Amino acid sequence: MSRALIPLVLLVAACGPRPALERGAELFGDPAFAASPSNVFSCATCHEVTAAPRAGNRPPGFTLHNAAARPTYWGGAFETLLDAVNECYVEYMRGHALSPDNTDGRALRVYLQSITPDKAAPSLPLTTVTTILDVPNGDPAAGEATWRGACSRCHGEIHTGKGRLGPRISIVPDETLKTFGTDPLKGARPITIEKIRHGKYFGISGNMAPYSLEALTDGEVGGILAYLGL
Ligand code: HEC
Ligand code: HEC
Repeated sequence: MSRALIPLVLLVAACGPRPALERGAELFGDPAFAASPSNVFSCATCHEVTAAPRAGNRPPGFTLHNAAARPTYWGGAFETLLDAVNECYVEYMRGHALSPDNTDGRALRVYLQSITPDKAAPSLPLTTVTTILDVPNGDPAAGEATWRGACSRCHGEIHTGKGRLGPRISIVPDETLKTFGTDPLKGARPITIEKIRHGKYFGISGNMAPYSLEALTDGEVGGILAYLGL
């Protein structure tokens, strides 16, 4: 083969499916995928990609293993994978909605298809807690484990925020107590329950994701409250 042919061969290889897959996998774990300088989340912050999640890991989103084969998403709210992804990309990562022909969006789709071994997979039930009711405090040791699996990925350590994803992530529970006080009806305790259940929705701002009943039970939320001393 002449030397002149080599760049052509490389160019052809670069257009094949493998680089799109690699690029998609890279985007999945990269907060810079959403161009917003304030974004610190990647898809991997909130989603696992394997059939069985790592022990103790409690992200707010479901595993995306088989996601490309599900007929609906977000408990039936969205019918296409792109709409389901854009909800996260825009609302949590502050990106601009990906269009169907966006190159990065297509690479991400190739990656999501690569972690979808089955031809068909069921939609996953998603139960949103609409009305916030108090939950009894649970066991603080269990609550600590739940905090480590669910919350510390973003918030780091309680009281200090050590290891948190960035300065915009609240130091829990201290900042919440400082802002809202200890009133049983309007203070840090009900605010924390509401934040866990509603995230940024239901008129609450910010960009934290909500936890459905499938993601955390009320008993687990009660454990977190006990661990936080609320
Ligand atoms: C801040 C956390 C967060 C981030 C970041 C995030 N998601 Fe999500 N995502 C969620 C939550 C919460 C849901 C709702 C529960 C669910 O359906 O998994 C969800 C739902 C989804 C769904 C629907 C799953 C289903 O079957 O209902 C898909 C697909 C998805 N996300 C893909 C992505 C991709 C791809 C990215 C990165 C571009 C991303 N998400 C980033 C939290 C997040
Ligand atoms: C994907 C990252 C992420 C995860 C996971 C997460 N949070 Fe948050 N949380 C945030 C961000 C960002 C803020 C600040 C912006 C906002 O209010 O949405 C916040 C704010 C809060 C606040 C409000 C603090 C205040 O004083 O206003 C509370 C309380 C809270 N989180 C508790 C939790 C608990 C408890 C968990 C685990 C069940 C958790 N968070 C999981 C990102 C996260």
